[in-house]
Amino acid sequence: MKNKSFVIAIDGPAGAGKSTIARLLAGKLGYVYIDSGAMYRSITWAAMRAGFSLQDDKKLVALAKKTKLCFKKHQRQVKLFMNGKAVTKAIRTPEVTANICYIADNPRIRQIMVKLQQRIGQHGGIVMEGRDIGTKVFPAAEFKFYLDASAQERARRRFLEFKDRGVKASLSDILKDIKIRDHKDKTRAVSPLKKARGSIVIDSSKMTPEQVVGKILEKIKAVDSSRQRRAGIERCAGS
Ligand code: CDP
Repeated sequence: MKNKSFVIAIDGPAGAGKSTIARLLAGKLGYVYIDSGAMYRSITWAAMRAGFSLQDDKKLVALAKKTKLCFKKHQRQVKLFMNGKAVTKAIRTPEVTANICYIADNPRIRQIMVKLQQRIGQHGGIVMEGRDIGTKVFPAAEFKFYLDASAQERARRRFLEFKDRGVKASLSDILKDIKIRDHKDKTRAVSPLKKARGSIVIDSSKMTPEQVVGKILEKIKAVDSSRQRRAGIERCAGS
C-alpha cells in the first residue's frame, strides 16, 4: 500500500482472534496496533482497585476523564500505559472480564473512550480492534472487517490461551462465558456489536491466523488498487 495513513477497523465477538490478527496485520503494514477493549478493561481495573461501585456514574466518569491512556511499543510489543503505568497484564484477569460490562454499558464512559480512540487514530496508520470501531469510532474507516468464528471454536481458543498463561478454567465454563458476553455485546443499548456497513466478513473458524491475515491483505490490496485505478481515470468538479 502506498498510502500509510489508513484506518483499518476490525470488529467481532470475544475470541474471534481480533487481537492476534490486528497485531500481525499492523506488524506487516508498519501500522500501530490499538486494542480498544484494553481501554475499557483499564477503567474497570482502576475502578475495582479504587474500590468504587461500578454503578457510581459520577466517580467512574471522573476517573475516565482524568485518565491518560497511551499505547507504546515496548520490547517489540505494543503495551498499554495508564497514567504512565504498564497495565497490559493486570487488566486481563477473569475478575476484570466479569465486571467489564458495567463500564462497557455506560454511555458516558463510552463517549469518553470513543473520543480518545478517535484522537489516537486521527492521523491513521492504525489497526484498531474492538466491538464498535467500524460502526461508531471510525465509521468512515478506509477498511472495515468483521471477524467471526463459531462459539465452540472461540471457546477452544480462549481455553488454550488461558492454559498458556496458567489461568485455570474449564472449556464448558469458558463457552458459557463467551455466550453470555456475546449476548451482552450484541444487545447493549449503546453501540452494540454489529457488522458495520461496508465491512468485509471473515469467518475464521477453520483458518489459521496467517491465513486470515493473508485474506485481509488480499482484500486491502484489491480495494486499494481499484480505488487508485478509479482515481486515475476520474477527475470531476462542478454541477
Ligand atoms: O476478551 P476479549 O479480548 O475478546 O475482549 P476485549 O477486546 O478485551 O474487550 C473486553 C470487553 O470490552 C468486551 O466484551 C466488550 O464488552 C467491551 N468492549 C467494548 O464494549 N467496545 C470495544 N470497542 C471494545 C471492547
